[in-house]
Amino acid sequence: MSSQPTRILLGITGSIAAYKTPELVRAFIKAGCEVKVVITPSANDFVSELSLATVSKNEVLGNIHNEGQWNNHVELGMWAHAFIVAPASANTIAKMAQGICDNLLLACFLSARCKVMIAPAMDLDMYHHAATQNNLNTLRQRGVITIGPASGELASGLIGDGRMEEPSTIVNEVLRSLHVSNSLKNKQVVITAGPTREAIDPVRFISNHSTGKMGVALAEEALQRGANVKLIIGKGALGYTNPNMEISCVDTAEEMLNASLSSFEKADIFIMSAAVADYTPEHVATQKIKKKEDDMSISLKRTPDILATLGSKKKNQLLVGFALETNNELEYAKNKLEKKNLDMIVLNSLQDAGAGFATDTNKISILDNEGNELHFELKTKKMVAIDILNHAEKIMIKNIN
Ligand code: C5P
Repeated sequence: MSSQPTRILLGITGSIAAYKTPELVRAFIKAGCEVKVVITPSANDFVSELSLATVSKNEVLGNIHNEGQWNNHVELGMWAHAFIVAPASANTIAKMAQGICDNLLLACFLSARCKVMIAPAMDLDMYHHAATQNNLNTLRQRGVITIGPASGELASGLIGDGRMEEPSTIVNEVLRSLHVSNSLKNKQVVITAGPTREAIDPVRFISNHSTGKMGVALAEEALQRGANVKLIIGKGALGYTNPNMEISCVDTAEEMLNASLSSFEKADIFIMSAAVADYTPEHVATQKIKKKEDDMSISLKRTPDILATLGSKKKNQLLVGFALETNNELEYAKNKLEKKNLDMIVLNSLQDAGAGFATDTNKISILDNEGNELHFELKTKKMVAIDILNHAEKIMIKNIN
């Protein structure tokens, strides 16, 4: 894209998160972009056109016809290097999926030849509704890239998925996807994610707090780099669908082992980010265990170590493990790297605030089998996934040469 400024067409819809869009425009401009803004009629209720016109230094476009002039949506679509709809309301997402064209923003979408990205923002039940999820999947299948939503406190007071991603994250994502290489094209990347669950009886199981967010971020990043992605995800993780990757849902460590073994031979990169239970009940009761007056104990046996099993079968695969430690982190991680025959290990410590289970952020160190040790700042899991795959690619290139 040479030295020209990157041209961003920002579409704003009627969601409370629209109040953040002047900051988003400023963040794009600070990153060296030129920005034009198109808004839906209801976006006007949440953000002032004057603010947007002032920060973007361009007239804000809202109507197909404007004081006798025709706002040419085709030209806007051609002008932009990327069209980003942020916040994208459930209503606009539904209209985009259906091809409805009753405002300028939708006309721009239908005629855009550039990359289209959306940052959904809505209440969590609206976001998780099957209709919204279907619409998002339809758009993804057609090449639209989704950014977020993040999880956290929502305007309704509820807590969950549906917050528009922060402006800085949106800017990073948009610019990166414009400049992204196809560095993993034709590569098979397999990622395990989430917890495993080990049944005690038909009602109870042993598991852990993993949500699968880190593994999902890795899978999405690999997809962006052009890889064929398979995600093996524990049923206890947050529900995740993506029609652009193969997703296999498993429950126990045994099931995860089998799914991993059947995908290993063809894998170029195998990342084991799942939190696998180390022990499973020796006997699974066929009926619900009734409580008694006395205490009870359950006899546990070891689960298979999936990563060590893959390490022993490794040929040309690049094998990446994770280590979550609470003490002596570096020493334990180095031991695992060696013992399990890995190419690299990603260490996150529960001692770091914002790192580990269920958070949207992580703070990692990467150790590799050449003795390199890299320490990173606290970042969103999306950004952490970039660091991990960048290092994996570096090792892959070194192994080829
Ligand atoms: O040995 P430890 O469980 O701490 O190692 C963590 C790494 O090993 C993670 O990558 C995890 O996914 C993997 N693991 C595994 N099978 C197990 C336990 C952990 O593959 N039974």
